[in-house]
Amino acid sequence: MNDMPRFPFRPQDRDPLIPPRFPFPDGIGQVELPTGQVAWLVTRHEDVRQVLRSADFSSNLTKPGFPAIRPIPPSEVSPLPGMFIRMDGADHAHFRRMLTPEFMIRHVRLLEPLIRDTVVGALDAMRASGAPADLIKWFALPVPSMVICHLLGVPYTDHGFFQERSRTMLAWATPIEAARAARDDLLGYLAKLVAAKQREGGEDLVSRLAAERVATGEMTADELIGMSMLLLVAGHETTSNMIGLSTLMLLQHPEEVRRLADKPEAIEDAVEELLRFLTIVRTGLPRVATADTEVGGQVIKAGEGVIAWLAGANHDETVFTDPDALDLSRGSHSHVAFGFGVHQCIGQPLARAELRIALEELLTRLPNLALAIDPAEVEFRDAVIFGAQRLPVTW
Ligand code: HEM
Repeated sequence: MNDMPRFPFRPQDRDPLIPPRFPFPDGIGQVELPTGQVAWLVTRHEDVRQVLRSADFSSNLTKPGFPAIRPIPPSEVSPLPGMFIRMDGADHAHFRRMLTPEFMIRHVRLLEPLIRDTVVGALDAMRASGAPADLIKWFALPVPSMVICHLLGVPYTDHGFFQERSRTMLAWATPIEAARAARDDLLGYLAKLVAAKQREGGEDLVSRLAAERVATGEMTADELIGMSMLLLVAGHETTSNMIGLSTLMLLQHPEEVRRLADKPEAIEDAVEELLRFLTIVRTGLPRVATADTEVGGQVIKAGEGVIAWLAGANHDETVFTDPDALDLSRGSHSHVAFGFGVHQCIGQPLARAELRIALEELLTRLPNLALAIDPAEVEFRDAVIFGAQRLPVTW
């Protein structure tokens, strides 16, 4: 196993904003994971989509052979009830269906005024704090966090508590005991919140799910707690890293920004290209094969672990010409930054709206925005989701 590449790949000798190169000429090969497990890494666009849409690959981490991308073996992680990202088939559909209407484009459009107010409020607060300021702390983190808190009915005043716990849970180096403690803290917090919503009711999503699904017996209170945890963590960690990295990317490509200023309606294409280019779920999506299946000319046997490497697919030169170049007008609509198939990100309309509005307001309100440090000094986070630690800026 000595010369088998280790995954996740460590930063390579090139711009960390560009995902690492993959070592397999055929687009598929075996890698050694931090637990010592071996898994297939699938890197081509077509093959990644095949794995993610096929019922022969399971998302259930309790199945033997499920690949652990972190140094924690899957046997040590018990999936939470209601956490449908780790379920298959009818169980997954049962929970996902409960949320589908909430995240439809039509519904998200109604949230846009709230998103814009949140974005403008955060920018005003950053300006008031004086330059230089950390854009992650003042803008990239609070915007998605306030929006998801509003949606779920979680008091934003508690954001310090749950942000710290979710960071700990997702950080690479967190020892298993600390990850468990952070998870238990969050679960305890959400259990109290769900109990309060059951007693008091309200207009927010958690209150409505409590009244319309828990009270009717369609789901248990524990399942609602697990689902709320999934939404809270997925709803702010991802989008906040995307806002931070997109800003960094744009600051390094002023010519692209000028083109965007001349054609503001191109912002939607720009957001898609940033999602493709950055592919912040850098570790890819783990699955385990449930039947012998051929992928990219390779037979994957039932019980073998597979990682659908989104970053590889999004930089596949047979689909995206000159993939390591940022081209905001390329219209990269076939990217898989939100995954593919039945588990494809349910929050994507919300994430897209947040990104679009955040970048629109940032570029028009702070036209002289600049990095206050050398780009080479930006520190990146060693975590499941790729992001910048801090981004000191002036304006
Ligand atoms: C730029 C921001 C985002 C990115 C890049 C992203 C990425 C992803 C990806 C790659 C998946 C697929 C996981 C898999 O197949 O195993 C996923 C699933 C999911 N995402 Fe997102 N996400 C983002 C924002 C959000 C937001 C804002 C929310 C919620 C409010 C959200 C909630 C979810 C949920 C609940 C799932 C599980 C869906 C399922 O299993 O059916 N995400 N996301």
